[in-house]
Amino acid sequence: MAPPRSAHALVAFMSFLLLILSPSPGAPVSDQSSCVQCHSKIAHEYADSAHADMGMTCVSCHGGDPMNMEATAMSHGAGFRGAPSRERIPPFCGDCHANRPLMKQYGLPTHQLEDYKSSEHGRAWARGDTHAAVCTDCHGSHAILPADDTRSSVYETNVPATCGRCHGDEELTARYGLPADVFEKYRESVHGVALLVGENKAAPSCASCHGSHGALPPAAVEIGNVCGQCHRSIVERLRESAHAAAVRDGALTECISCHGHHVIRPADPSMLQELCAKCHPPGSRAAQESGRMYELISGAQRDFDEAEAAVHRLREAGYTVAELQSHLEEAHTKLVQTADIQHLLVAERVERYTIAVTEAAGEVEIQVARMHAELRTRKVLLGVFWLVLVVMVGMLLTKRARASSELTPSPTDGGGR
Ligand code: HEC
Ligand code: HEC
Ligand code: HEC
Ligand code: HEC
Ligand code: HEC
Ligand code: HEC
Ligand code: HEC
Ligand code: HEC
Ligand code: HEC
Repeated sequence: MAPPRSAHALVAFMSFLLLILSPSPGAPVSDQSSCVQCHSKIAHEYADSAHADMGMTCVSCHGGDPMNMEATAMSHGAGFRGAPSRERIPPFCGDCHANRPLMKQYGLPTHQLEDYKSSEHGRAWARGDTHAAVCTDCHGSHAILPADDTRSSVYETNVPATCGRCHGDEELTARYGLPADVFEKYRESVHGVALLVGENKAAPSCASCHGSHGALPPAAVEIGNVCGQCHRSIVERLRESAHAAAVRDGALTECISCHGHHVIRPADPSMLQELCAKCHPPGSRAAQESGRMYELISGAQRDFDEAEAAVHRLREAGYTVAELQSHLEEAHTKLVQTADIQHLLVAERVERYTIAVTEAAGEVEIQVARMHAELRTRKVLLGVFWLVLVVMVGMLLTKRARASSELTPSPTDGGGR
């Protein structure tokens, strides 16, 4: 005997096929259908949706008789099912979207309903609490678009606002003891700025860290894996470091003990001064290591800044600095890597990189000095050249003046005009 779930799914599948394929009454409803005549606003919203695009009509979801121009089109006799209430929405969408044979034809996955049930939203829904998100809160009900359509409410750059509609609602969040500033904080974070302002799709939206259908706050032990989707090397360094033991003891939560979760700011060596002191008293081995790393990184930063400024002055003066630029870039790469490597908490390892920065910056300074020296020589030579030129021109002019005075006839010569 088939379990009731798959029987249900089969019925949904068959009725869907019927709706799509049979000539009547479920034949694709043209703009002339009675539903569209009376519900023109909804019909307009619906016209562009993913469902309309593949030939689904009002009747596919609501039933009824699209040929009947009277309100009796919406009678039970015509199979009319009405609009689902909020409690009924997940299984309503799931009837088709959790139906594997049906969704396979469209290359769509079928895990949304299952994932949803495991989420904090789905658990609230299962308790009969309809304030948490159901499918239509994130997708809409009629203007549903594929996730990769820029107009979709679940398009990556639109996701934070879609979640923020509820998670920024003071009254709603207070009822669950949740913060209402999640969206605000995210929007100001490095990630929010990168995604929403910079349109950098590599930066995470809410769903990258929480999942979309399975939305849960990550447990403390998983946070490294969440951030590690994109910052793999740093997770590895952390797990190799002395802090791995602190994570196991629950004294430190991976990544977020230092960076926070929503309010993540751009990284800066000054963090080594403020952050570490929160847990490590002055004079401790850890505080010494952190002080040393700060000295090394900020020293390398100074060397780099000076070299960069020198190159900048040359460029401003109109000189070609392509070769110097490549040295600078090399130094910059090493400098950036120090911020990654310091997660190991070993100053010696950081030093390998800062030495490389200082060397590359030193090389730039030497070349800049050489270029300055060359310029000075060139200026002297140019001065000498001009001097010689002026003297020669002067001599030529005197010579010409003398020659012309010799040739000019005196006024007494041939004055017979
Ligand atoms: C003669 C006009 C008319 C026709 C034809 C018609 N409707 Fe309606 N429909 C209405 C009115 C009026 C209401 C009640 C007000 C409202 O909810 O908009 C309504 C309500 C609805 C509702 C909400 C019912 C609920 O449970 O709250 C749905 C869904 C609906 N119609 C779908 C359809 C579909 C599908 C068709 C075509 C098979 C259709 N209608 C044909 C006028 C019409
Ligand atoms: C993919 C399934 C689906 C299709 C197709 C669909 N609807 Fe709906 N409709 C819903 C859901 C879900 C709700 C309830 C959620 C809500 O109120 O927004 C709803 C609600 C409604 C309502 C009552 C609420 C309201 O907004 O007034 C009307 C009327 C309605 N639909 C008409 C239509 C018409 C007309 C069409 C065809 C142009 C259509 N629907 C196509 C899923 C669908
Ligand atoms: C009668 C079956 C049926 C129902 C009910 C239904 N859908 Fe769909 N849905 C489909 C089919 C089939 C597609 C594939 C369309 C395509 O590939 O263009 C689809 C496409 C989608 C897509 C776009 C997927 C993509 O990336 O291309 C979303 C999002 C979606 N549905 C959400 C919903 C939601 C939310 C509900 C409930 C309000 C719902 N659907 C109800 C059949 C259904
Ligand atoms: C909390 C918000 C939220 C809820 C609730 C939600 N979705 Fe989604 N859904 C998303 C986001 C975000 C995406 C796009 C990213 C992704 O594919 O995970 C998406 C994508 C989809 C897709 C396209 C999948 C694909 O791979 O192309 C379908 C279909 C879908 N959802 C159906 C549903 C159904 C059915 C439900 C209810 C059982 C539901 N969603 C509930 C946020 C939500
Ligand atoms: C319709 C409103 C609504 C929308 C839209 C919504 N949520 Fe929620 N969310 C809630 C409510 C209400 C709760 C509290 C549920 C509970 O605790 O029972 C919640 C809980 C959560 C939790 C668990 C928080 C905790 O610590 O318990 C996470 C994580 C979450 N939502 C993420 C998201 C993400 C990500 C999105 C967008 C993809 C989203 N939500 C969209 C209403 C919403
Ligand atoms: C870079 C990853 C990341 C992004 C992006 C992100 N979150 Fe979170 N979020 C987390 C982590 C990690 C936690 C758990 C913090 C903890 O356990 O202390 C969390 C916790 C939450 C909570 C529980 C309350 C809290 O603050 O502890 C909610 C609700 C939530 N996030 C919603 C959202 C919403 C909505 C968005 C988008 C506007 C979002 N998150 C973006 C990582 C992220
Ligand atoms: C003990 C505190 C601490 C922990 C734990 C920590 N970080 Fe950092 N992180 C820092 C400090 C301090 C900097 C800034 C170093 C600098 O700019 O010189 C930094 C810099 C960064 C940077 C910028 C550097 C780069 O390579 O892009 C990223 C990204 C980063 N951390 C991500 C993470 C992730 C992901 C985790 C978890 C695996 C993590 N951090 C754990 C303290 C920490
Ligand atoms: C989906 C990929 C993704 C996830 C997941 C992610 N990040 Fe990021 N993160 C990025 C990108 C991309 C940037 C660079 C943004 C920019 O252009 O400034 C970034 C930047 C950062 C920075 C600033 C680096 C700097 O150079 O100043 C820190 C710190 C950071 N992330 C920490 C975290 C932490 C902690 C987590 C987990 C809670 C996390 N990230 C999760 C992609 C991700
Ligand atoms: C949330 C608290 C916390 C913060 C913030 C923190 N640490 Fe730690 N750290 C610990 C704990 C707990 C240990 C002890 C690990 C163990 O059990 O051995 C530790 C151990 C260390 C050790 C090894 C000490 C030893 O005696 O071997 C070093 C080095 C260290 N931390 C450096 C840092 C640096 C650098 C920073 C700032 C970037 C920092 N820590 C920030 C909690 C923290």
